[in-house]
Amino acid sequence: MGRRRFFLIFCTLAIFVFVAVQCTQVKIKSSDSRGPAYAGSATCVSCHKNLSASAVHNAHLNASKMLTKPNSADSLHIPDGDFIFNEQTKVQVKNRVDGLYQSALINGFDKKTEHTDMIFGAGKSAYTFAFWYGKQLMQMPLNYLTKEHQWVNSPGFPDNQIYFGRPIISRCLECHSSFADKKLIQGPNFTIEEEYVKNSIIAGIDCERCHGPAAQHVTFQQENPTVKTAKYIVSYKKLALSQRVDLCGVCHSGTGIQTVSSTFGFKPGDTLKTLPQYSAYRGEDPDVHGKQKQLLEASLCYKVGKAECITCHNIHDKSKPSVAIYSSKCISCHQDVKHETLKKNNAMLAKNCIDCHMPVKESHAIGFQMSNSKEKIPYKLHTHRIAIYKDLVKGE
Ligand code: HEC
Ligand code: HEC
Ligand code: HEC
Ligand code: HEC
Ligand code: HEC
Ligand code: HEC
Ligand code: HEC
Repeated sequence: MGRRRFFLIFCTLAIFVFVAVQCTQVKIKSSDSRGPAYAGSATCVSCHKNLSASAVHNAHLNASKMLTKPNSADSLHIPDGDFIFNEQTKVQVKNRVDGLYQSALINGFDKKTEHTDMIFGAGKSAYTFAFWYGKQLMQMPLNYLTKEHQWVNSPGFPDNQIYFGRPIISRCLECHSSFADKKLIQGPNFTIEEEYVKNSIIAGIDCERCHGPAAQHVTFQQENPTVKTAKYIVSYKKLALSQRVDLCGVCHSGTGIQTVSSTFGFKPGDTLKTLPQYSAYRGEDPDVHGKQKQLLEASLCYKVGKAECITCHNIHDKSKPSVAIYSSKCISCHQDVKHETLKKNNAMLAKNCIDCHMPVKESHAIGFQMSNSKEKIPYKLHTHRIAIYKDLVKGE
């Protein structure tokens, strides 16, 4: 009798435990890895259809991608290729049925082959590739340049040997993704290394990375479908100018921002100074790569005119604005420029303000070593320091 009762109690308990485990598992699965305050961008689609559709082709949403299926990279049309360090040493890139691989070949022998698990970059100018090494993301030896159609040595890598040893640190993910949970572990020689919680990574910059946690907004709007005004979501336009620029600046001020925790918790309305360990950028000559905030802030158009990021950039427009469209933004504030010192009537004067006042500059921070050569392809961008660059207009 005692035995039977024990058995019954045991069974009930077992069922209870089983059900409890099931419930929590379901909960964990359906929730966003950032926590219950976040809804996930899939939930925005039903009410913000057009914005969600345009985001699919947007550089932010595509700033990184997980390649979880064998054909995940197919749509990017990244070709096979190779990179020659010297006669003995080369890296080969191959599309295979189950994905994109990079192999180290020494005297023709395959010494190491890795499968691409994650891609960084929307492909405007470059892609960086990563593979899982345990719970670390490691950078592949080669980058691909989309305009030059060339495989190049990754920036900062040794120029005479194949390197598979650089981790993609969480700082990259802070600017190129929406979330990544990590643990700090002890590496060799008392170094501290990062390990990711693999399923926590939300690749790409999603709606809530810019707009902040929106679960409460979603619940409210779902329960009150007749309400056509927004509740429980920060309105970007109602923020102060510095807050608006800082929301972009959290990723467009370069890597000089130092935080002990991460910038993932940064929400609209925060300023960069409120980050726990923020140390302001002190460099004198902001590099064109990734420092759009400092460069713009050094311009009179910002200091006097309050020209801000969204004056010229429509985040939700997937089309790439032309020089003429950008120039029309300049003209909206500068209707009557005389250009008295420009002797001849320059054909550009009326419709291309950009090339003279935001000229293309070379980044000093990065460049890409070419195959079979020590030469580098420079990384060039239009500077955001809007100013008069006299040296550009000799003669004309
Ligand atoms: C059930 C419908 C619904 C869902 C789901 C929804 N929203 Fe909204 N949202 C609205 C309505 C209604 C407005 C107000 C009208 C408008 O601006 O489109 C709004 C406005 C907004 C605004 C503008 C706020 C302002 O004042 O400038 C943002 C930003 C926003 N939503 C973000 C999100 C995000 C991010 C998600 C997904 C996580 C989301 N919404 C999901 C209904 C919804
Ligand atoms: C979470 C980080 C992050 C935030 C926040 C962010 N950006 Fe970006 N932005 C990026 C990254 C990374 C890229 C490069 C994407 C790529 O090409 O891979 C980028 C690219 C861009 C581009 C070039 C895209 C193109 O299609 O040419 C513009 C313009 C831009 N951002 C403007 C803004 C503005 C304006 C804001 C603020 C409203 C902002 N960004 C907020 C990270 C961010
Ligand atoms: C890189 C940052 C960024 C990302 C990513 C982003 N937004 Fe926005 N969003 C903005 C900014 C900045 C504005 C204000 C633009 C303006 O007022 O000119 C805005 C405006 C809005 C608005 C109100 C204005 C309008 O056009 O209706 C809604 C709604 C919105 N976003 C929803 C979304 C949704 C949904 C997603 C994801 C699919 C998303 N946003 C992704 C930066 C972002
Ligand atoms: C502080 C934010 C920030 C950090 C950190 C950062 N990036 Fe970026 N990255 C950007 C921005 C902004 C751009 C695009 C515009 C530019 O170059 O200024 C960009 C561009 C790129 C591109 C070219 C994208 C394209 O579409 O052509 C690649 C690839 C890239 N980053 C990879 C990385 C990797 C790998 C790391 C880590 C080693 C990293 N980034 C760290 C902000 C950042
Ligand atoms: C929101 C308004 C606004 C926008 C947009 C704007 N500017 Fe300005 N800009 C100003 C103001 C205000 C000044 C300061 C004028 C002064 O002090 O006389 C200025 C100054 C300048 C100067 C003089 C700089 C110097 O150092 O002497 C140039 C050149 C200039 N802008 C070009 C441009 C170009 C080119 C664009 C487009 C890429 C542009 N601006 C966009 C408002 C704007
Ligand atoms: C006066 C107009 C103007 C303002 C204000 C402005 N941009 Fe730009 N931005 C441009 C132009 C023009 C380009 C070059 C586009 C091209 O090359 O096709 C550009 C390009 C970019 C790019 C692509 C990479 C690069 O640097 O060329 C990023 C990222 C970017 N802007 C971010 C920002 C951010 C963040 C802000 C606010 C801090 C901002 N922009 C303010 C006009 C502006
Ligand atoms: C061929 C190069 C070139 C082009 C194109 C150009 N600028 Fe200029 N800009 C200059 C130079 C050089 C100066 C300084 C000497 C002068 O005023 O002639 C200048 C001066 C300025 C100034 C400050 C002086 C003033 O009159 O207020 C502004 C503002 C300005 N430009 C805006 C623009 C705008 C807006 C456009 C596009 C419609 C444009 N520029 C196209 C070269 C150029």
